Amino acid sequence: MVANRLPVDRVEGEDGELLWRRSPGGLVTAIAPVMQESDGAWVGWHGATGEELPPFENENIHLIPVPLDDEDFELYYEGFSNSTLWPLYHDVIVPPEFHRTWWDNYKKVNKRFADATAKVANKGATVWVQDYQLQLVPKLLRELRPDLRIGFFNHIPFPSPEIFSQLPWRRQILEGLAGADLVGFQRTADASNFLRSMRRYTDRTVKGSWAIPPAHLDGSASTRNICRAEAHPISIDTAQVAELAHDPEIIARAKQIRKELGNPKTVLLGVDRLDYTKGLRHRLKAYGELLADGELVVGQTCLVQVASPSRENVERYAQLRDQVELMVGSLNGEHDTMGHTAVRYLHHSYPLREMIALYLAADIMLVTALRDGMNLVAKEFVAAHTDNSGMLVLSEFAGAADQLTQSVLVNPHDIDGMKSGILRAVHMDPLESSRRMRRMRRHLKEHDVARWSDTFLTALSQPLPVDTLV
Ligand code: G6P
Repeated sequence: MVANRLPVDRVEGEDGELLWRRSPGGLVTAIAPVMQESDGAWVGWHGATGEELPPFENENIHLIPVPLDDEDFELYYEGFSNSTLWPLYHDVIVPPEFHRTWWDNYKKVNKRFADATAKVANKGATVWVQDYQLQLVPKLLRELRPDLRIGFFNHIPFPSPEIFSQLPWRRQILEGLAGADLVGFQRTADASNFLRSMRRYTDRTVKGSWAIPPAHLDGSASTRNICRAEAHPISIDTAQVAELAHDPEIIARAKQIRKELGNPKTVLLGVDRLDYTKGLRHRLKAYGELLADGELVVGQTCLVQVASPSRENVERYAQLRDQVELMVGSLNGEHDTMGHTAVRYLHHSYPLREMIALYLAADIMLVTALRDGMNLVAKEFVAAHTDNSGMLVLSEFAGAADQLTQSVLVNPHDIDGMKSGILRAVHMDPLESSRRMRRMRRHLKEHDVARWSDTFLTALSQPLPVDTLV
């Protein structure tokens, strides 16, 4: 496994000693058993700068730290990854910045990840590279280690060629990805955007889901240079979420949360990284108008908005925080009463157990992203409501909308449409909402994160149907 981040967090033990604890999150849960069985290694950054750590073990997985210094953090992580690629791939919600110094550093750091991986991978091993921070790794690794089978998964959207074409280094990125045998995307639309860009900006021929280099067509190159692109939507550990939702402590905590909010009739919930892709301002605007119109009333309704801190030094994120906090302040100033609040705003991140309690405490989950690769919060909310209560309002621009089709789907740019979507969810007949929640939960039971990684790895291990390609 190769990812920007290692799947562990550094925590302080009781005697002040430093310990590593497995990070929450589906990716590591899904992949841990596979890695433990196959003596697997995870190559990634441990989250602090200017510190070189030796390889170490955590829960039977070999962890191979890749160091980043302050300059890498600024140019590769905050710069090219999160101020060029992130906004570009999320449909230019904010303008991406293109700086050659950022690109040079992105290349350098990707090479560092590829070298570290080439050093530890066994002969003929399968290597799975994750996400937009490491798009050059597949090609670099292929050059260093032609014996490896290489998969790549893009967790965020892949934009249309019209938008992608803005990137001065578009060809290099496409060729970097095409070093993989299989490139996985969240949605079919992402895979086809990628293939359309491959056709337009590289010399590869695209046939179906295959991108074939020219040398292959005259028979002179190895079939290992053929790359295939497919949708493999990621999911959650559905059973774990359901199990936590039955934990008496968590159920009691959910009751306590509702009580602390003054037992309103309807609790609306938003849980997002504080990111401009999440549509927080649009959501607050729609909610504020519903309060102003008298369609929702403080005391009977409360919105709990968790906005977890993220990429705080990046200017656009700092600006967004100011804007969101101004909106929350003005909404609460306008609508709060002595005893009740309109928005309970929490700029924190919480452990999974508290998140599940929040899901259980909520009636309506609001996921109104302007663009989102998948959105696992939407899936977790549905999976936690094992009694089929509650309803999900979901943006059609989140990958999850392809699977959670029984939610109330909204276009977050359409404020009136979003207002009626929220009201529809609030007033939905319980028989109808429970039928919809049951269907979505059934889907998540079958399509969990273990199935996602199995399907991807099986597809990656399949031999190429060479005859049909030439
Ligand atoms: C998204 C990305 C991940 C990233 C995560 C948190 O989900 O797809 O690759 O790790 O955000 O962002 P951060 O910049 O803190 O790693």
